[in-house]
Formats: sequence, structure tokens, C-alpha cells
Amino acid sequence: MEKINVLFVCLGNICRSPLAEAIFTKMVEEKGLSDQINIDSAGTANYHIGERPDPRTIDNARANGVELLSRARQFVSADFELYDYIIPMDDSNLQNIIKLKPDSGIHNYKVIKMRKFDPEQKGADVPDPYYGGAQGFQNVFDILKRSNEHFIEHLLNEHNF
Ligand code: 4NP
Repeated sequence: MEKINVLFVCLGNICRSPLAEAIFTKMVEEKGLSDQINIDSAGTANYHIGERPDPRTIDNARANGVELLSRARQFVSADFELYDYIIPMDDSNLQNIIKLKPDSGIHNYKVIKMRKFDPEQKGADVPDPYYGGAQGFQNVFDILKRSNEHFIEHLLNEHNF
């Protein structure tokens, strides 16, 4: 069976999307689905390419039992070919992604905002915690955990694992 490829996207790829990647990876492992689902994250901006996630994100995630292992990379047009689900954190990321969509054969439907899967404030942005305080990082963690619990249920319903 072909793997399902999931890509989480934010602006810098150092706060929200690497956290979404790590939380989702842990959930997929716990469900025994690691062989079926391939997971990555990227940023639409080039500011932090090659960097580890923001230390505040790393510390907050660790306090919640999640380890972040990624390095930042930039979202590229070719990701549209490689990924089945492209999950932006906010409307700005979504618009930046759509601008890079290749002309032929690829549809917008595979791009789905993270909080479309959040029953609380469905479809809202995942707020950018970069310029805020510690509480912002825990808020993002809680949003991403809840959203990803519903996202994985969506995948289980759509695919026969
Ligand atoms: P992220 O947060 O998009 O969740 O990784 C940000 C990280 C860096 C910047 C903005 C947002 N920045 O302006 O450098």
C-alpha cells in the first residue's frame, strides 16, 4: 500500500509546524501507523532554513512529553506533487502555498487549514506565538494536540489502514 504523505506548513518552520509534525508523529506511532504515514513540515519563508526549532517551542513541547527533532526547510512547489495533505497553520500560509501551486493537474483540495479539524473555533488560524510570551506556546500546543487528534480520525475514516 502506498504511504500517505502529510506536510504541516507555517511561516518560519521553527514554531508551529515543527510542533504539529512532532505531535502528529507521536500520535501516529502510538496508533502503530508509522509505516503507513509519512510526515514532514516546512515554512513558506526562508528566514530560518537549516535551523532547529525555536528554543521556546522545544522547551514547551518537552514539558508536554514531545521531542522536536526537525530542521527548518522552505516549502517548494514540488511539495504539491509529493504530499497528499498540505496543512497550513493560518490563512497567510495558505495563500503563500496556493501561489506556489503548479499550473497543471493539482487541485486546491489537498490544502486544508489545521484548524478545519479543530472542533473549537473550527477553521480559525493557529496563532503565531513568535512575538508573544510563554502562555502563547502552551496555547499553540493545546490547539495542535486537539486538531491533530481529529485530523488522525479523519485519515482513519478516509483510508483503509
Ligand atoms: P512559525 O513562527 O511560523 O510558527 O515558525 C515564526 C517564526 C519566525 C518568524 C515568524 C513566525 N520570523 O519572523 O522570523
